[in-house]
Amino acid sequence: MNVVIISGSMRGQSQSLKVSTWFMEHAESLGYTPTLIDLHQAQLPMYDDGETEVPQLSDLKKTLEDADAVVFVSPEWNGMMSHGIVNFMHYIDKELANKPAMLVGVTSGRNGHYPLMQMRVMGYKNNQFIISPENVLVQGVKDIMNSHSPEPDSPDESVQKRADYALRVLSEYAKALQQVRASGVIDFAQFKNGV
Ligand SMILES: Cc1cc2nc3c(=O)[nH]c(=O)nc-3n(C[C@H](O)[C@H](O)[C@H](O)COP(=O)(O)O)c2cc1C
Repeated sequence: MNVVIISGSMRGQSQSLKVSTWFMEHAESLGYTPTLIDLHQAQLPMYDDGETEVPQLSDLKKTLEDADAVVFVSPEWNGMMSHGIVNFMHYIDKELANKPAMLVGVTSGRNGHYPLMQMRVMGYKNNQFIISPENVLVQGVKDIMNSHSPEPDSPDESVQKRADYALRVLSEYAKALQQVRASGVIDFAQFKNGV
């Protein structure tokens, strides 16, 4: 499985990037082929309907086109999902259509549900990715996913087990949804945008 992991924090030294790196390494250990998109590094300008030249966009779109699945890792900022992920969704078209997406909410405190809930309703309408029921919630992130050998029976171990499971479920959705894309039923000429 080619899986793209999108780190949604706009901060340089972000915890979401650390979590995304954990997913990269774990995906590799499961035999998948992961690619990281760090939205801090990508430096996409705020979408303005093509008025700004965005040279990095073609590589980003190609990465998504080549993906079988995507993981959105969003920090919770002021009770909201990453504005960087929302901005990115305006730039893309059907690169992720009928591919599975897994959601990861990240917080230094005890929240993190807001980005999960918001990502569950945002973006899929026109980008048409399919959201896996298996979320990952990373609370108290500074103490979580700092290594791949968590303390037994710790919150870190519990999150890492959940993350492993969610990734393996994503891989099965990736296989199943290849059939949908190859079916000949998908008709973006007539039904470009969802309702
Ligand atoms: C502008 C800003 C607003 C934040 N608001 C929240 C919040 O509403 N709820 C919360 O649980 N954490 C909040 N945090 C803390 C983040 O959860 C914390 O920074 C965490 O490390 C994830 O963000 P990061 O990936 O940018 O590091 C906020 C952080 C920033 C920078």
